[in-house]
Amino acid sequence: MSRKVVVMDHPLIQHKLSILRDVETSTKEFRDLVNEIAMLMVYDATRDLTLKDKKVTTPCGVADCKVIAGRKLAFVPILRAGLGMVEGALRLVPAARVGHIGLYRDEKTLTPVEYYCKLPKDIEERDVFVVDPMLATGGSAIDAIAQIKLRNPRSIKFLCIIAAPEGLEALKKAHPDVDIFCAGMDEKLNENGYIVPGLGDAGDRIFGTK
Ligand code: PRP
Ligand code: URA
Repeated sequence: MSRKVVVMDHPLIQHKLSILRDVETSTKEFRDLVNEIAMLMVYDATRDLTLKDKKVTTPCGVADCKVIAGRKLAFVPILRAGLGMVEGALRLVPAARVGHIGLYRDEKTLTPVEYYCKLPKDIEERDVFVVDPMLATGGSAIDAIAQIKLRNPRSIKFLCIIAAPEGLEALKKAHPDVDIFCAGMDEKLNENGYIVPGLGDAGDRIFGTK
């Protein structure tokens, strides 16, 4: 099954992404922007949630309304940088559960090393949104999604802020059943596996390390 790749071109997302990329942006502002962009991305990525009818009594009558048809969601950040997107995502879907997958890229081989995995117990009943600001070689996202698939969730979507063409192709190939959403599609990776022009090291900029 071949799924969709969406580049979110909403003016608010694009404006915030420009500030996020700027080398002069402070840690606090960077952290706030990552959450704001995550919130806007979740707004768009949940537009296919199914609705059911509900009658609501207003002070003046009865309105035919729609409510979300009982779908359960889970957000799964890839540690560390994915954590920066969770608060914004939960602002829109406060009842969602949160799982965590800890992966870091080995600086020499650029391959992901897993150090933590804790997912919601009832993940089989949930639509999962994996969140990570950066999709570079794709190794981290591919491994995280493979881990989650072992637990048979209802569906998986991947949300990143910036994607490199290399990572996008690798992720589509490894997990063709996963919808991919990003705010920016960049040119390439450099020799150290960083996205160019990108925004630098997302984890370091969110947490103020380095
Ligand atoms: C970053 C980023 C992704 C990964 C992307 O994490 O947050 O998880 O790199 O690279 P890839 O697509 O080539 O796998 P990093 O490994 O720097 O760890 P951190 O979040 O703990 O800083
Ligand atoms: N991880 C980051 O944080 N930034 C990149 O450009 C690539 C991987």
